[in-house]
Amino acid sequence: MKLRSTLTRAFAVLAATTSLVSYAQGQAGDNTIKGDAQAARSKISMCIGCHGIEGYKASFPEIYHVPKIAGQNAEYIVTALKDYASGARTFPSMEAIAQTLSEQDMADLAAYYSSLK
Ligand code: HEC
Repeated sequence: MKLRSTLTRAFAVLAATTSLVSYAQGQAGDNTIKGDAQAARSKISMCIGCHGIEGYKASFPEIYHVPKIAGQNAEYIVTALKDYASGARTFPSMEAIAQTLSEQDMADLAAYYSSLK
C-alpha cells in the first residue's frame, strides 16, 4: 500500500515535470511548428505531378521510381524534405522543390501526406 502511493506520487511529479517542459518549449517557440493538413491543400499542387494525387500512382513510373509518400510518417517526410533542402540527400528535382519550402510548408505537407492512407 505504501509503495503504491509512493509510486503514484512519483508518477504525478513526473507528469507535472513533463508538462512543464513542454510548456517551456512552447514558450520558447522553437521546434513547435505544427503541421496543418488543411493548409497543405494549397501546396500539394507542387507534388501531385510526381507523387500522384493519392500517392499511389506516379505520373512517370517509366522514367524514375517515385516513392509513395502518402501514409508515410510525418517526421520522416519532414526529415526527408529538410535533407533534400540542405543537400544531405540529393536528388535534383526534390532538392529544387525542397529549397522553396518553408519549415511550415514542410510540416503542413507532412501532416497532409501522413494523413492519407
Ligand atoms: C519532379 C518530380 C517530383 C516532384 C514535383 C516532387 N517529388 Fe518528391 N520525390 C521525387 C522522386 C523521384 C523522389 C525519390 C528521390 C530519391 O531517390 O531520393 C522523391 C522523394 C520524395 C520524398 C522522400 C520519400 C522517401 O521515401 O524517402 C519525399 C518526402 C518527397 N519526395 C516529398 C515531396 C513533396 C512534399 C513534394 C511537393 C512539395 C514533392 N516531393 C514533389 C519526385 C518528385
